[in-house]
Amino acid sequence: MKIEVLRIGQRLVRDDRVTTHVALVSRAFGASKILMYDANPEIKDTVAKVNKMWGGRFEVEIIEEWRKVLRAKKSDSYKVVHLTMYGEDINAVQELLRKEDKILVVVGAEKVPREVYDEADYNVAVGSQPHSEIAALAILLDRIQDGVQFQRKVSGGRREIVPTKKGKRVIDKTSP
Ligand SMILES: C[S@@+](CC[C@H](N)C(=O)[O-])C[C@H]1O[C@@H](n2cnc3c(N)ncnc32)[C@H](O)[C@@H]1O
Repeated sequence: MKIEVLRIGQRLVRDDRVTTHVALVSRAFGASKILMYDANPEIKDTVAKVNKMWGGRFEVEIIEEWRKVLRAKKSDSYKVVHLTMYGEDINAVQELLRKEDKILVVVGAEKVPREVYDEADYNVAVGSQPHSEIAALAILLDRIQDGVQFQRKVSGGRREIVPTKKGKRVIDKTSP
């Protein structure tokens, strides 16, 4: 399954830390790209450094017009999955989502325009209480991939973690 994430909403500029975390969760939980606008370009550098250190080719694309992107992805057969506390219960739709080939997950910042609810193929709630786009995104990505995202080999990094019961084991791939 190919998964991309679109972050929209107002006041993105003042929300750098959350935007960075949305990008890092997207990367670590198996999405291939995040598309965002009005974001601090340093976020792109931060993610590039994480890729260099820990591998993979996760992309950050700074876009101009999210409406155009939404339309383009829809005509490229992506299913739009909008995360909102007003949506359908994730428990009820996760099986359907797992069958999709290409998904564009839309996460909001402050206020999300009404048209996103209308354009979405699925409006999905991770519980019907307000919380965080970071938490909602992590749970959605995990539910639709059923944990398999963590078994994937992320290649090309300088370092690789060896999971251990205690302490830290890290392979330095740059040393001969
Ligand atoms: C701080 S919340 C904003 C909530 C705000 N009331 C709204 O939707 O306009 C930011 C984003 O977190 C996500 N979110 C928050 N709670 C959620 C929930 N229970 N289920 C799914 N997504 C949620 C949504 O993507 C939302 O746009």
